[in-house]
Amino acid sequence: TAVVVENAGRNKSYRHTRDLSMAPGSTERLMASTLEAAREELVRGLGGLLDRPVRVVHRPGRALPDGAVVVGTRESSPAVRRLVPAGDLERVGRDGYVLRSVVQGRRTFTVIAGRTDVGALYGTFAFLRRIQTHRSLADLDLAESPKVVNRHLNYWDTERLYAGNDESGTGGLNGENGAIFNFAATGAGAPLNLPVVLDRYLVAARAMASVGITGITINNVNADNSYLTDEYIAQEAALADALRPYGIRLALSIRYAAPLDSRFAPDTLTEEQMAPTDADFQDWWTRRARRIQESIPDFVGFTVKANSEGQPGPQDFGYDHGDGANGMATAVAPLGLKIYWRTFVYNPDVDSDRLKRAYLEFGHIDDEPQPDGSTGRFRDNVFLQTKNGPLDFQAREPVHPMFGRMENTNQAIELQITQEYTGQNRMLCFLAPMWEEIFKTDTYATDEQGQLLDKRLVGHVVDGTAQDHSDTAVVGVANLGNADNLTGHHFSQANLYAFGRQAWDWTLDSGDIAADWVRMTWGNSREVVDVIVSMMMGSWEALVSYQTPLGIGHQFTAGVHYGPGPSESHLPREDWNPVYYNQADSVGLGYDRSPTGSDLTAQYFPVLAARYGDIGTVPENLMMWFHHVPWDHPMSSGRIFWDELVHHYYSGVRYVGGMRRAWDSLESRIDARRFAEVKAKLALHETDAADWRDTCVGYWQRFSGRDIREPG
Ligand code: GCU
Repeated sequence: TAVVVENAGRNKSYRHTRDLSMAPGSTERLMASTLEAAREELVRGLGGLLDRPVRVVHRPGRALPDGAVVVGTRESSPAVRRLVPAGDLERVGRDGYVLRSVVQGRRTFTVIAGRTDVGALYGTFAFLRRIQTHRSLADLDLAESPKVVNRHLNYWDTERLYAGNDESGTGGLNGENGAIFNFAATGAGAPLNLPVVLDRYLVAARAMASVGITGITINNVNADNSYLTDEYIAQEAALADALRPYGIRLALSIRYAAPLDSRFAPDTLTEEQMAPTDADFQDWWTRRARRIQESIPDFVGFTVKANSEGQPGPQDFGYDHGDGANGMATAVAPLGLKIYWRTFVYNPDVDSDRLKRAYLEFGHIDDEPQPDGSTGRFRDNVFLQTKNGPLDFQAREPVHPMFGRMENTNQAIELQITQEYTGQNRMLCFLAPMWEEIFKTDTYATDEQGQLLDKRLVGHVVDGTAQDHSDTAVVGVANLGNADNLTGHHFSQANLYAFGRQAWDWTLDSGDIAADWVRMTWGNSREVVDVIVSMMMGSWEALVSYQTPLGIGHQFTAGVHYGPGPSESHLPREDWNPVYYNQADSVGLGYDRSPTGSDLTAQYFPVLAARYGDIGTVPENLMMWFHHVPWDHPMSSGRIFWDELVHHYYSGVRYVGGMRRAWDSLESRIDARRFAEVKAKLALHETDAADWRDTCVGYWQRFSGRDIREPG
């Protein structure tokens, strides 16, 4: 086998702004260009998979060696130019690639051609994936393009990471100590620091690139101003240099009131200068952004959590989210940067139902007529970044009513890969089926005349085809940590993998994604694939059943968000208490959001509003999001609601027992270390799932007064 990569070092855009070096003892290597990264992946991947050395050819001339794998773009590689017509590559989108077998006389080659260098890298990973999953390489003729432009990660470096390398493997109770990148100030005895690059930065970069991630916001949304200081920017620039060959661009979370911070003195603003509509505020952000861009030429822009959970925002200065987002967007537009403005807001003054608040704050801004005759106030370089559901990453939520409703604004969907509410790093929960359900939910969105749109699934809204948006984004709150396996639980890797695949193409089948991952991670034997795929595919629905079945919201203990706390009512905000969501009483369980209750349903398009608003038509798995369900309400199974509820808790836990036994059956087929690590996690998982069942059923029984008719 020979790998042909011409001009891998040619790319002038890799202007390293720092002198990077690898930490002593590293096994990874810094790359100088994307094509060099592609070459290295092929050499490493093919060498490992075929178990023989791979020759690299830089100047092949006309006679390519038989069996050669040719990688590049038409610009970089004369061989690609000869083998792939320009028109074929023009048909694939940005980041797209062509994988093709070419026969010339008695010789056969495989060409991996990108529209861009990054496309060639993605094609390389796709090619390796075919080999790893035992697909045929004969007569290849594939053209692939992503459906979404920005496939971005948000990295909450100081919380909700369950992938740390400490003893518990959680990185601390709230997952605060597992950060993958390390910006700690240098000093005697301090840990190694950028521009010294650690292996794990590049391992993470390779993992991200292998599934097509284009960018990462590297710090928590509850942002710390240090990330905007010159000292940090220098380190961020070094990190950006190290990640750039993998097509991964940096962004930062910012604190809206950063201009007031004396750390930036003498460049600070007074409260009076904080009007987002005025030059003082905008120029401050232009100056900071330019300072970053000088060091990080391909910097993406800012992620903003404003007026949410105590974070400052425009409302503190008398302005709304539209003014705030636009003030920042105006500041950075000349630099070509973007603002990802989060819509995770729930100010209690807006409405007594937390789930209605975001749309009430944002919807009218999207509907506002503009002086130039257009509609919608948000600027073009603003993304409104909205969590998939209206609450907060619960294991099952209805889709957020804003999807489709904000037709004049670029909408990014935010999914949570890190398993804050889905078992953290103890429970095996494969999230791709949940994301598939979300992307494939019909919004029944209509046009201005009230006609149903042709393309109106959440995925169409997100990929821009529903409402004709060209700038599109899927954002995932990532689960990478400093644990050896990157994610804490071996099976959490599957969620990062699936996120990347679904961000690239939301129409994919989650079972196919699971099968690919299992083949690449655990083995290609029929038994391994069948057993593990079936464990994974039911794992999310099982978790929903033993944690929050039939659409009951947030029932977690305060702060930690792992175990059950259905009776909790002591927290300072009403809408943080599980009792607010369960509304348990002698009549039944669940929050009435129908027209007789809070009327959240009215925020959906008419078909969904009617469906969700009626207890006779609401899908049972969302029932308690929208209704206070009487204990003896008849369910489709023939059981009454109480019995159905109990049945869900029990069957969820039984499924976990089934996963544990299924895993045990694979002992001879999995390496001893990983087998034991997963086995130990499954044992904890089963215990903790039973705790959810017993705590919740016991508590509900106090209100229902009914018997538990379910075998343990
Ligand atoms: C959740 C999470 C917080 C996070 C917040 C957010 O509430 O528990 O840690 O900051 O979401 O998305 O902003």
